Amino acid sequence: MPQTNNPDKIYRQYQQNTQEFQFDKTVADVFSDMIKRSVPGYENIVEMIGVLTQAHAQQDSHCYDLGCSLGASTLAIIHNLGDKNCQVIGVDNSAAMVEKCLNNLNKIKTNINYQIECQDVLEIDFKPASVIVLNFTLQFIPLEYRDDLLRKIYNALLPGGILILSEKIQFSDTYKNELFTDIHHAFKKTQGYSDLEISQKRNALENVLIPETKETHLNRLQNAGFEHSDLWFQCLNFASFFAIKNTTKNTIKSTINN
Ligand SMILES: C[S@@+](CC[C@H](N)C(=O)[O-])C[C@H]1O[C@@H](n2cnc3c(N)ncnc32)[C@H](O)[C@@H]1O
Repeated sequence: MPQTNNPDKIYRQYQQNTQEFQFDKTVADVFSDMIKRSVPGYENIVEMIGVLTQAHAQQDSHCYDLGCSLGASTLAIIHNLGDKNCQVIGVDNSAAMVEKCLNNLNKIKTNINYQIECQDVLEIDFKPASVIVLNFTLQFIPLEYRDDLLRKIYNALLPGGILILSEKIQFSDTYKNELFTDIHHAFKKTQGYSDLEISQKRNALENVLIPETKETHLNRLQNAGFEHSDLWFQCLNFASFFAIKNTTKNTIKSTINN
């Protein structure tokens, strides 16, 4: 995707007091590099968001990318709508992210209608949607608002519509939790991050990114009303779920064939 790939060096130097992590300009400037080197499987998930969009986007509906950051998933949606007349809406409450996202999208040629809004996802007045993406965003929403947001998303989706939810996850089994955390840190080291960078970023994120278990996510999706949901991707402690509003397999097939 057309993005500048500035290297993430934010936590390279020792910081006496690590500040809480924020999606400010410093992060937005290096975010593309940061997320690829921090989230194993990220690029694979973004590619699959495109594939799932092809299968579920419906004519004359809206497609949302909630917490769109620099627009990687927004672009995956746009590039996979074919000739479906959909309006794509990216939303992020970080002004720095929105500015860069708009720059990225302005570089592509497309007939698809899109808009990028600087807004809190909790305040969206959703329009009828066939695809809604929460790609590593829900984990930053305070726990007490997560159920309501998912219910709003379910209500906004048309029959056959899909929510794609990707999250860092934790495990109720302490051994597994530590094992996956250690392997994730080993992954980050292969990506060029030092022990200092890994531990300072971990401290910065501690009270900001609140992971939940797979079971909590699947229960929440079911309680929100989704008739079909499952885990479709997991690499270490990173996972992606799909949740579909009342449809049969045949409806999906006919959407793909159209
Ligand atoms: C890890 S990034 C998401 C990555 C992006 N979805 C992608 O696929 O590349 C999380 C994003 O969610 C945004 N965010 C966090 N809380 C938000 C909220 N309440 N409303 C809107 N955006 C939010 C942050 O500003 C940040 O850009």
